[in-house]
Amino acid sequence: MCRLKCVKESLKDISEYDTVYIMSPIYWGTYAPELETVLKDLDFTGKTVRVISTHEGSGLGSMISDVKRICKGALVDENGLAIKGSKAKQSEAAIKSWL
Ligand SMILES: Cc1cc2nc3c(=O)[nH]c(=O)nc-3n(C[C@H](O)[C@H](O)[C@H](O)COP(=O)(O)O)c2cc1C
Repeated sequence: MCRLKCVKESLKDISEYDTVYIMSPIYWGTYAPELETVLKDLDFTGKTVRVISTHEGSGLGSMISDVKRICKGALVDENGLAIKGSKAKQSEAAIKSWL
């Protein structure tokens, strides 16, 4: 099952998921600060976390290491995907291949 959640609908429990995808624009070199609120209290023990960013030059920035810090217990895939925001609409093939 795949569901998209956003900060409007805060997650309380991720126990039903094996893999969690964290997607964010890069703001000031990392994920959007709102994500901190969503992620910090979740239990990621045993979960795989994969990271996607949109950016305008920084790639993933420090998102991987920041996600490792905030997602306690997660196995964070080092192979994140960085998509240039202005090219997002043309990036379907790259995203499918990464998935
Ligand atoms: C406040 C702010 C900070 C940003 N900081 C960065 C940055 O450090 N590196 C970068 O590559 N892009 C940065 N950007 C560009 C965003 O990553 C880009 O606009 C975004 O990926 C596209 O998604 P959006 O249209 O939802 O903003 C920043 C944008 C904003 C608004």
